[in-house]
Amino acid sequence: MSSWIDLKQDPFKVFGQWFEAAIKETDFEPTKLTLATLGADGLPSARVVLLKAYDSEGFVFFTNFDSVKGEELKNNPKAAMVFHWQKPFHRQVRIRGLVEKLSFAESNAYFQTRERGSQIGAWASPQSHKISGRQELMERVQLFEDKFANQEIPCPENWGGYRVKPMSLEFWQSGEHRLHDRIRFIRKDLLSPWTAEYLAP
Ligand SMILES: Cc1cc2nc3c(=O)[nH]c(=O)nc-3n(C[C@H](O)[C@H](O)[C@H](O)COP(=O)(O)O)c2cc1C
Repeated sequence: MSSWIDLKQDPFKVFGQWFEAAIKETDFEPTKLTLATLGADGLPSARVVLLKAYDSEGFVFFTNFDSVKGEELKNNPKAAMVFHWQKPFHRQVRIRGLVEKLSFAESNAYFQTRERGSQIGAWASPQSHKISGRQELMERVQLFEDKFANQEIPCPENWGGYRVKPMSLEFWQSGEHRLHDRIRFIRKDLLSPWTAEYLAP
């Protein structure tokens, strides 16, 4: 077993230590992660999103609920997340879990912290749907700028946060000669205790 992670530790705490270190030390958008969901046709989809919050419940990102990922999460509320932090850490964290939507109040609270331009963007972009081109997008931006001129912009009903509640978290630390360390925390369900196991690289 490895000495660099205490296997009895709460994996959320380990994540917190790694994440905060990445925020301090890495330049390349340390909050970005790859999010995978499953399509109704059985093909997985993956894309990059930003982690906006985490706590002992799970990992939160924000998006359009009518997007491809939103549709896929409606049909199958399960997801995988991968973080990769390069220099100086050379670390990867892999998460698999169950997904729930944040309440409208929670989503709106975050929405209100966004820049006005991003708020307009959330209204204007029918994310993942076909449009005729950039001109249509900019016309939609103008439409919502006019609609909300001189007033606070409410959170769209079809926009907000998802929380991924992990069933497993794997911490991967690069090692010399590709002899990496991998420690996986798993639990049978969200209320069960974690067990940790060491995996071959
Ligand atoms: C660095 C980076 C950060 C991104 N952050 C988000 C995000 O937080 N939320 C989001 O909906 N899309 C984000 N995107 C865009 C997504 O990768 C993707 O294009 C979009 O969500 C549509 O995905 P979908 O069609 O699979 O739903 C980001 C893209 C990049 C490259």
